[in-house]
Amino acid sequence: MKGYRIKTLNEFVIERQAEYPYAKGELTRLLHHIGIAAKIVHKKVNKAGLVDILGEAGAVNVQGEDQKKLDVFADEQFISALRASGECCGIGSEENQEIVTFDDDLSKEGKYIFLMDPLDGSSNIDVNVSIGTIFSIYRRISPRGTKPVLDDFLQPGIKQIAAGYIIYGSSTMMVYTTGRGVNGFTLDTSIGEFCLSHQGITTPEDGTIYSVNEGNYVHFPEGVKQYIKYCQEKDTSTKRPYSSRYIGSLVADFHRNLLKGGIFIYPETAKAPNGKLRLLYECNPIAFITEQAGGKASSGNQRILEIKPDSLHQRIPFYTGSLNMVEKVESLLKNNN
Ligand code: AHG
Ligand code: MN
Ligand code: MN
Repeated sequence: MKGYRIKTLNEFVIERQAEYPYAKGELTRLLHHIGIAAKIVHKKVNKAGLVDILGEAGAVNVQGEDQKKLDVFADEQFISALRASGECCGIGSEENQEIVTFDDDLSKEGKYIFLMDPLDGSSNIDVNVSIGTIFSIYRRISPRGTKPVLDDFLQPGIKQIAAGYIIYGSSTMMVYTTGRGVNGFTLDTSIGEFCLSHQGITTPEDGTIYSVNEGNYVHFPEGVKQYIKYCQEKDTSTKRPYSSRYIGSLVADFHRNLLKGGIFIYPETAKAPNGKLRLLYECNPIAFITEQAGGKASSGNQRILEIKPDSLHQRIPFYTGSLNMVEKVESLLKNNN
């Protein structure tokens, strides 16, 4: 009888490494350590209702938002796992105002820099709703053997070497790309391994779900208002009206739309003239994954991955998901400019 053999994340990454003739295993080690931190955070998230890790940690993060204990915990876990990998020379994180640079000789030789939103969707922690981690990896520009500098982190998204997210949902999953398609791994808690469960993820060109915080409707640009009305109109040939789904965790909202087909929108508003989401560690990694899955990611009038960042925590309006849905809202934004 032919036995069914699962493929773990580490096996998959090593297998793929062989496709890159000059690869020395550095990215492989990095991804392995991301997996370790993800498992530790998974464990903590699963106990969130039981132990005293809920509530504010007492600090306020660089965005001026209250920092929950799990944000801090996840931040620390990813930083220490990446430091231990020896392949990463520095980290940019939502939870740290400045870049974190590693001083030890091994890390200074590391050629990668890492950007992350360690805990995305933190308002959903204490109500048992899915949350996530988002990450992005670049090759440093500064010479190896030195401390990384801010410019290493301010590269446009097209320079990403890899990007991914972990969703702590009804199962914990890691989804990532290295620019050759998108693959998803589900954590099998009985063996403590991420196992290949979604190979070669592609997103439908036309979706039927729109995800936006409609409570902010009055503050939206005219083009977005018109697009929402378009989503709600009846037209059986285009399967409208669409379904509205919004959790308030980018990772969870995006993950559902990626698999089912849909659009995620966080536009600029009067209160947030540049939108809310952060270019470097929320929009760029998600944009890389979207494009690799056949979708599109835009600021409304520009491809997200081509934007040259000017600061670490910069925000940007974000429209991402099924190709034709994003193009439709872009055309309405243009007509109403
Ligand atoms: P974070 O928890 O990392 O601060 O991110 C929250 C983000 C994102 O996950 C989500 O899409 C968005 O904020 C929700 O914002 P609103 O509550 O304004 O809809
Ligand atoms: Mn976030
Ligand atoms: Mn966060």
